[in-house]
Amino acid sequence: MTQRIEMQICLGSSCFSRGNKDVVMFIKEYLRKNHLDDKVIFKGARCMGHCSNGPNLNINGVIVEGVTLSRIENILEKEFARFI
Ligand code: FES
Repeated sequence: MTQRIEMQICLGSSCFSRGNKDVVMFIKEYLRKNHLDDKVIFKGARCMGHCSNGPNLNINGVIVEGVTLSRIENILEKEFARFI
């Protein structure tokens, strides 16, 4: 059974100043390259209340903190291993 993943990135100002825009671009490109567009619903979200640890992602209801450009690929690979 294929399970869909819902992933939201915080677009609040603190996560923005910590580089969420670059992470958004990376994620979009990653989903496209790995043909995950139909399996992953990727959206922006409001402040998640974890500002000092951002940029933050919410993956199926679980908040992942410190999602920097250097960490994002590992996080996605772990999360989507069963799809790729
Ligand atoms: S601005 Fe992202 S958690 Fe607050």
